[in-house]
Amino acid sequence: MALRKILTQGDPALGKVCRPVEKFDRKLHWLLDDLKETLEESGGVGLAAPQVGILRRAVIVVDDQEQMIELINPVIIHQEGEQDGLEGCLSVPGMYGKVKRPNYVTVRAQDRSGNFFEVSGEEMVARCFCHELEHLDGHLFVEHTDRLYSVDELDAMDAKGEEP
Ligand code: NI
Repeated sequence: MALRKILTQGDPALGKVCRPVEKFDRKLHWLLDDLKETLEESGGVGLAAPQVGILRRAVIVVDDQEQMIELINPVIIHQEGEQDGLEGCLSVPGMYGKVKRPNYVTVRAQDRSGNFFEVSGEEMVARCFCHELEHLDGHLFVEHTDRLYSVDELDAMDAKGEEP
């Protein structure tokens, strides 16, 4: 396994539509292992293959049990409710914005062997499914918000009892 470099906003790879994974081979397993190691090192809750420059439909999401779920060729098949909250991205380091997302999401995907499965998540996990899957179509969360906040700005607002 190896750490991979996380690309940041402005890198053309982050704006591309990724191709489906067709081969569930050792190369895919290396990619998934590297994504998990890179995500663990970064302390984030999700990472998509294009964020390390691989334009294939594969993402990792950390669930509410702190387990990393591997999602290959994922598709949202059900969504319900709404939540509005701060969101960030390892490709937009240090910046956060308010983004509306569904509160409950079900995803159908394949595992590293190609077997189909479904997984559901709510609140933070639902947010993460939506955020990571968007990366596969070349979209970043900043497209859904008109104001980004730095950690310092958020701290200053918090100290004054204000909300973003
Ligand atoms: Ni992201």
